[in-house]
Amino acid sequence: LTGHITLDLGYKNTGSTKSAITFLDGEKGILKYRGYSIEELAEKSTFLEVAFLLIYGDLPTTKALEDFQSQITKHTLIHEDMKKFLDGYPSKSHPMAQLASLVCSLSTFYPESLKANSSPETMDLTMIKLLAKFPTIVSFIYKKSLGHPLIYPKNKYDYVSNYLNMTFGQRTEEVEIDPVVVKAMNTLLILHADHEQNCSASTVRMVGSSDCNLYASVSAGIDALWGPLHGGANQAVIEMLELIKEDGGDTEKWINKAKDKNDPFRMMGFGHRVYKNFDPRAKIIKKACDDILEKLGINDPVLEIAKKLEEAALSDPYFVERKLYPNVDFYSGIIYRALGFPTDMFTVLFALGRLPGWIAQWKEMHENKEPIGRPRQVYVGHTNRAFVEIEKR
Ligand code: SDX
Repeated sequence: LTGHITLDLGYKNTGSTKSAITFLDGEKGILKYRGYSIEELAEKSTFLEVAFLLIYGDLPTTKALEDFQSQITKHTLIHEDMKKFLDGYPSKSHPMAQLASLVCSLSTFYPESLKANSSPETMDLTMIKLLAKFPTIVSFIYKKSLGHPLIYPKNKYDYVSNYLNMTFGQRTEEVEIDPVVVKAMNTLLILHADHEQNCSASTVRMVGSSDCNLYASVSAGIDALWGPLHGGANQAVIEMLELIKEDGGDTEKWINKAKDKNDPFRMMGFGHRVYKNFDPRAKIIKKACDDILEKLGINDPVLEIAKKLEEAALSDPYFVERKLYPNVDFYSGIIYRALGFPTDMFTVLFALGRLPGWIAQWKEMHENKEPIGRPRQVYVGHTNRAFVEIEKR
């Protein structure tokens, strides 16, 4: 190959696997989990029910869901020694760094999870333990960042309510969990639960394909998600909207910066590799934004800036020609902020939502007995060179 052809290399449009979990139609803006539309699931289901659907393939019966919840309730605590890792991080370290290492550290407490080709029962218990302990780890990271006492899981709560109580609960008194917040969190987590072979899911599959355990594979997925071009965009969107607000809210100026090839600024929360139409999740989140802020009586000026940006971009030829529409990250941060989360926790919340998807993808790969991932390359380096002693170089 001497440069006569340009190759579109990399995982831009590679068919990396066969999967029955999630269906995307980027042109039509369609997203389905196991054949169910995201619109119906977001409106009618709960996050734990969607987690069951993604992992086991069907919506659960009442009994199956109750068993699932009770298995998870049994495993929500983490080993007390894990708090020593938590205490070891600098107080301002990014929650995603802590989350990736704490999740990988789970494997040190459960040696049974390390056995390649462990039995289906062991694999299932490993998945249950990860689902059960993830919210506890996430809320412990958050409480530690505030210097507040940790709030432990309580068996009386359902999955999402337990997470919210560990996050916003207090040692000194029982805190009422607002049903509006519970519904909003369920909706947001459902919308983030899976998205076929995105960067982080492909990472979980690649690492898991070497027969690496689930905890370490998901830990690698957390690292991939952290990037601002991927899940880290939800934090970058709010930082961008704040910047535009501080700069007087001149959306036209920032749209022009995003279009300027010589300007590194990108319109965060816009564009998508697959969706060349509206991201269906963004539509649902935008409506949820209006509903939740109204119900909670919050007037967030960045929401108005977001809507002005969206309106301006959708009528600008640069964005229209490139089919750049708001994606899942464009409005989600505004809701997280309204629910009381700090900006650096937003991508952790994306990971909390994406966890069942990562688990389902890892499980499917093992069930299909897929081989270790080992892509090839187009070699463009030197052909043949003889060694030269250093004195002669
Ligand atoms: C997620 O894959 C998934 O499914 C991911 C995800 C999931 O649920 O897992 O949906 C979650 O990651 C959503 C995306 C979050 N990222 C951002 O919002 C960051 C900003 N967006 C981008 O950087 C970009 O749009 C990507 C990374 C999302 C997609 O990039 P592509 O498909 O590689 O597109 P590209 O970089 O090749 O851009 C094509 C053109 C370029 O212009 P030209 O070279 O043709 O002149 O569009 C331009 C780009 O410069 N462009 C943008 C832009 N995104 C693309 N210009 C300004 N602002 C943007 N946001």
